[in-house]
Amino acid sequence: MNEKILTDTVARLVTPPKGILAIDEGTKTCAGRFEKLGVPNTEEKRREYRELLITAPGIEQFISGYILFDETIRQKAKNGVTFTSILQSKGIEIGIKVDAGPLDFTDHPGEKVTSGLEGLSERLKEYKKLGATFAKWRAVYTIGEAVPTAACMKKNAEIFVKYVELCQEEGIVPIVEPEILMDGDHSLEKCYEVTSVNLQVVFDALKAAKVFLPGLILKTNMILPGKDSKVAVFNREIAQSTVRCLKEKVPAEIGGIVFLSGGQKDEDAVINLDLMHQSLIGPLPWPLSFSYSRAIQNPVLRTWGQNPGQVTRAQMLLVAAARNCSLASVGKYQHEDFKKLSRHPQ
Ligand code: 13P
Repeated sequence: MNEKILTDTVARLVTPPKGILAIDEGTKTCAGRFEKLGVPNTEEKRREYRELLITAPGIEQFISGYILFDETIRQKAKNGVTFTSILQSKGIEIGIKVDAGPLDFTDHPGEKVTSGLEGLSERLKEYKKLGATFAKWRAVYTIGEAVPTAACMKKNAEIFVKYVELCQEEGIVPIVEPEILMDGDHSLEKCYEVTSVNLQVVFDALKAAKVFLPGLILKTNMILPGKDSKVAVFNREIAQSTVRCLKEKVPAEIGGIVFLSGGQKDEDAVINLDLMHQSLIGPLPWPLSFSYSRAIQNPVLRTWGQNPGQVTRAQMLLVAAARNCSLASVGKYQHEDFKKLSRHPQ
């Protein structure tokens, strides 16, 4: 394993004030999002939308890496230039989602384990040839009466270990994404408890396997109440709980932490990250940034979906949303731009 290759990539990905843009939605997720806007979910439409995201002028000031889907890493812009070479020419790292999605966990109703280890080593080699320098693997956990169970957390952690080992062997930085979903009416405290236990399980497994911690990035949920919870929670409480939980459970030596937006309101994802960087919480042991999909793409997709001719407008919204996240990643969003830039048309 070449540790320097891994730490160099990590540094390029999480050096402030940049973060990651996830555009790795699978065909089914795209279908859901396109359908709502009346956009046909064809390969060409997905390509057209991704071209808009990849060619947005100036996006490289705020985004260090794009996470692509298997289909997208092979596609080209209308002028025949590959998406990967466009990203490389902007100095943007190429990431690839390599898991094959969640499957039912046998004998554990309501729980999932992530699939995709089979053939992963060969796929990583191919993605590397296509230009990928980092990868993403996501496991999902629902909070319920008796879930997630210790067995499910342990199983997904074992799978994360194999994924991390294979990526690091290839010189590809693994993003480990254990996502506690917002589904349900659980409290913020419950999300804290579950996230905390699960992070312990994940890092115990990674440490036991002696993977190279500075050469990996954690992508995690914020500590949030369930989306059906009726209890009002302040952004500051979310920010403080999240930082406390991460400081308790995430080894200081990992390369960095980035957040998923998880279905929060777009602006909350920005404000919460911003608040985490405000001085009252104190210094953080790792770079802490974003790897959002919905919180950045929502206004863009809406605009393009309603009027595919408005590519320039959609790209301006993308860059504005990425800029907001970038400011938040250094705690400067509220001070400088809270009113001016956060109210882009929804
Ligand atoms: P959201 O920011 O929409 O939660 O997506 C992030 C992601 O990559 C999910 O795997």
